[in-house]
Amino acid sequence: MALRRAAERLLRAGLHALPAEPAHDLALRLLPFVPPRASTADPRLRTTLCGLDLPHPIGLAAGFDKDAVAVDGLLRCGFAFVETGTVTRHAQPGNPRPRLFRLEEDRAIVNRMGFNNAGLDACLRRMARRRTTGTVGANIGLNKDAAAPLDDYAFCLGRVLEVADYVTVNVSSPNTPGLRALQQAQSLRPLLERLVRTRDAAEERKPLLLKAAPDLADDELDALTDLSIEHGLDALILTNTTTTRPAHLRSAARHETGGLSGAPLAPLALRTLRRVAARAAGRIELVGVGGIMNAADAYARIRAGAAALQIYTSFVYGGPAQIDAMLEGLGRALERDGFARLADAVGADLH
Ligand SMILES: Cc1cc2nc3c(=O)[nH]c(=O)nc-3n(C[C@H](O)[C@H](O)[C@H](O)COP(=O)(O)O)c2cc1C
Repeated sequence: MALRRAAERLLRAGLHALPAEPAHDLALRLLPFVPPRASTADPRLRTTLCGLDLPHPIGLAAGFDKDAVAVDGLLRCGFAFVETGTVTRHAQPGNPRPRLFRLEEDRAIVNRMGFNNAGLDACLRRMARRRTTGTVGANIGLNKDAAAPLDDYAFCLGRVLEVADYVTVNVSSPNTPGLRALQQAQSLRPLLERLVRTRDAAEERKPLLLKAAPDLADDELDALTDLSIEHGLDALILTNTTTTRPAHLRSAARHETGGLSGAPLAPLALRTLRRVAARAAGRIELVGVGGIMNAADAYARIRAGAAALQIYTSFVYGGPAQIDAMLEGLGRALERDGFARLADAVGADLH
């Protein structure tokens, strides 16, 4: 165990000596060689999300493995679930490089990747070939030049339902022009109507989730919550990256255009989760994501109403050991507060 941690630390130091995107590409190439970790998950942390059984609540957020090239390795790193994508109907190169920036002093990342991905067919082929058991969702989005957004989303949904355990509709990435406008009620209503029809026409009913931005005004967030419940979505993922820049950022790359993730996103993402949890009052499940850097952050999201969590930036900075540390801390927090199991702590701050 100690040897493994030392090797992981060394590898991470090596990766962080490279520019951000080459380091990411190399990490994806190395992940298939990750040996399985001994299962450390505390049985009290077993939980469910939209009816899917999970060994614990921590999953990998979308965007890390857009093309599903490393799903098996990522599950072996200890994630309870992995979300592939964002995948679009057609392959596209994304924005020009550089488009990914580490903000080390701020424990943050700025990205303007722009949905670079190998397209739906390639992603589906790889997802179908995966060997490790474990929950794998797929996150769907739009090509930059999509002429018929509803048709493209419905097409992607229909296809990914064949191989994914759940599907997330991404209308909240800041790097595809016009995408976030789909969160507004007048656009969201027809989109959800169409997607729910597509989901319900499939042979097997799979959970449909919607991922929202942390930058919506309160009334927009309320409308999005109400519409999602009205249309029978299974969960909301809160949140994607922010286009705002908190004044306290120190890193040189803080003014780069794109979405900010990591520690500085945490207050915004938690506030968004709390507002939606209060409005939804248990009528839809919630997934907490955005700046979850340690066990205390993770536990706060659970108490705020998240049934499960996702991380991205803290995995980049902390590697697989980050998952173990969060799980240990969550177990200790349950014990301290007298909860027999994680599910009992979900939404504890709401009551
Ligand atoms: C480099 C990068 C690429 C991302 N790509 C996607 C994406 O394709 N689709 C998506 O829904 N979210 C994407 N995200 C957002 C993450 O899934 C997550 O919502 C966000 O980073 C906040 O979590 P974190 O603070 O733990 O990183 C991306 C994030 C980063 C840092």
